[in-house]
Amino acid sequence: MMALGIQFSPASPTQPVERQASPVSAACATVDNYLLHPDDSLHERIAAARARLGERAIILGHHYQRDEVVRFADCRGDSLQLSRQAAASRAEMIVFCGVHFMAQSADILRQPHQRVVLPDLGAGCSMADMAEISEVEDAWAQLERLRLADEVLPITYINSSASIKAFCGRHGGLVCTSSNAARALRWAWQRKPRVLFMPDQHLGRNTAYALGVPLEAMTVWDPRQDYGGNSWERLRQARIFLWKGHCSVHARFRPEHVEEVRRRFPGIRVIVHPECPFEVVQKADFSGSTDFIIRQIAAAAAGSEWAVGTEVHLVNRLAREYPHLAVRHLDSAGCPWCSTMFRISPQHLCWILEELVAGRIVNTVEVPAGEREAARLALDRMLEI
Ligand code: 13P
Ligand code: SF4
Repeated sequence: MMALGIQFSPASPTQPVERQASPVSAACATVDNYLLHPDDSLHERIAAARARLGERAIILGHHYQRDEVVRFADCRGDSLQLSRQAAASRAEMIVFCGVHFMAQSADILRQPHQRVVLPDLGAGCSMADMAEISEVEDAWAQLERLRLADEVLPITYINSSASIKAFCGRHGGLVCTSSNAARALRWAWQRKPRVLFMPDQHLGRNTAYALGVPLEAMTVWDPRQDYGGNSWERLRQARIFLWKGHCSVHARFRPEHVEEVRRRFPGIRVIVHPECPFEVVQKADFSGSTDFIIRQIAAAAAGSEWAVGTEVHLVNRLAREYPHLAVRHLDSAGCPWCSTMFRISPQHLCWILEELVAGRIVNTVEVPAGEREAARLALDRMLEI
């Protein structure tokens, strides 16, 4: 396996945390040495390294992280909550147990003295990968040729690359999360008649529909086809162009799962994430972000039954943390899990922390300066609404 380690650069403004040999090797240890250890054998080492770093490091854990990792998180939350908490902290090092676009968002929002590391740089997001900046620029050029671009405001879900956030910043648009997508759409439609919503067609469709936009006033933009696969008339009729992207975890939920769980458990309440397909959201009782799902379950009446349509690690955790409820997964046969989130293992976390203790920063995520400013603009617009 290829070594992932990079040596701490003396030119970096961040000072080494502590000069001391790592338990694995005095030189920069690669994660390979760690991967030989079983999952549950590194807890003491992780805890020891974490304790030595003290307030100089903060560990962030997204709700979808596995338990062996999230147990070490100083903060648990969605990507935006975590990035904001890290930026408000005194820590020099932000260890993001999540996926790449989240670490980029943390890097955009961080203070100048902070650095962001991602324990496994291979932890991406299949949805974010469905929108390349070159495809977005090409789509915009096509809208310009049709003289439609002036009527369109771009919005990108936070699950996207920094370059797409920067694109939105430069074109008067903004970022949204699953918690504030409705506010972002209202804000956009107050300024322009149409929205280009990237990269999750489901979040865009579900949110626009909930705001009263009929399905006929929405069209999918397929980046692999000319004009997204649309006629000029179709684009003129649409109030929202939905980028053809989806989450590989949430798109697996089907309306039949809702029918089946209702048949088996009469009276059960169904709650799903808005990254699920439209037909699933329509059949559910509630739909909302991970934060919304957690709040609903936390406030539920004792003895109530819930089927939850989101990533399995969060659902299992909710079931354990609220034993006075019956919390089950919406698709008990499939149990969709996010394979890229799962790449952050206790072994990677141990490696990153022990390297930091040894004064070496590995796996930094850094958004280039020009891109950072424009992406920050799009994030700031979101924070203002
Ligand atoms: P939220 O935590 O913002 O609801 O997002 C869910 C998700 O899929 C993160 O990748
Ligand atoms: Fe991306 Fe879906 Fe995984 Fe979230 S759950 S990181 S949207 S693939």
